[in-house]
Amino acid sequence: MEIIIAKDAEQAASLVADRFEEVLRERGTEGAVLGLATGSSPVATYRELIARHRGSGLSFAAARAFLLDEYIGLPADHEQSYHRFIRENFTAHVDIPDQLVLSPDGEAPDPRAEAVRYDASIAEAGGVDIQILGIGANGHIGFNEPSSSFASRTRVKTLTEQTVKDNSRFFSSPEEVPIHVLTQGLETIREARQIVLIATGEGKAQAVHSMVEGPVSAECPASILQMHPRVTIVVDEDAARHLT
Ligand code: F6R
Repeated sequence: MEIIIAKDAEQAASLVADRFEEVLRERGTEGAVLGLATGSSPVATYRELIARHRGSGLSFAAARAFLLDEYIGLPADHEQSYHRFIRENFTAHVDIPDQLVLSPDGEAPDPRAEAVRYDASIAEAGGVDIQILGIGANGHIGFNEPSSSFASRTRVKTLTEQTVKDNSRFFSSPEEVPIHVLTQGLETIREARQIVLIATGEGKAQAVHSMVEGPVSAECPASILQMHPRVTIVVDEDAARHLT
């Protein structure tokens, strides 16, 4: 695990954007496969990548992207769907083909079959070259809450009360937050060839400590990253507060 303590959130985003840029340039016209997350953590990185696209012509034209997760029951164009979030915050502002920005279908009539199909579509694309992750205050990655199996693949999950509460800031009331999601599993995430996790702010400090310095345990799903051969954790000073 490489740990980088950035001086602030802006520098953290720029460091993560550097990793994405390297992969995009390396893969060139062969087309990089990007693993994207939603939530607030990656937004500054997306902003930086958009700026590089506009300023220095960084191109995503040959790339494709897979989202980590999606709420079950929200139409793709719902304000809070991750399908829409990623377009509004990132992909609509760069030259990646929209039909190659893929996410689990939260409205699929059979969510279990959709999970299997989604997992297979990542494999068919040759796997993810670089995956960006955020981390939940309880150590979740994707929507793999504590006690998720390290061998899990894309599947249906029920969110914990804490995550529903954390996410309710985006909805007009906690009752509106869907409680079921489709999420890539921990094993699916671990198959990405490179992973970059970004965490900023004191609220993430305990989770960052458990992920990096705690035991590898299903109690902190992100601790599985200790077993990955190529993972970089980029934190600001606040999120690094409990690291020894
Ligand atoms: C988002 C996701 C989640 C978030 C995590 C942190 O696609 O899978 O694991 O990364 O909940 O969320 P923020 O970044 O909003 O603190």
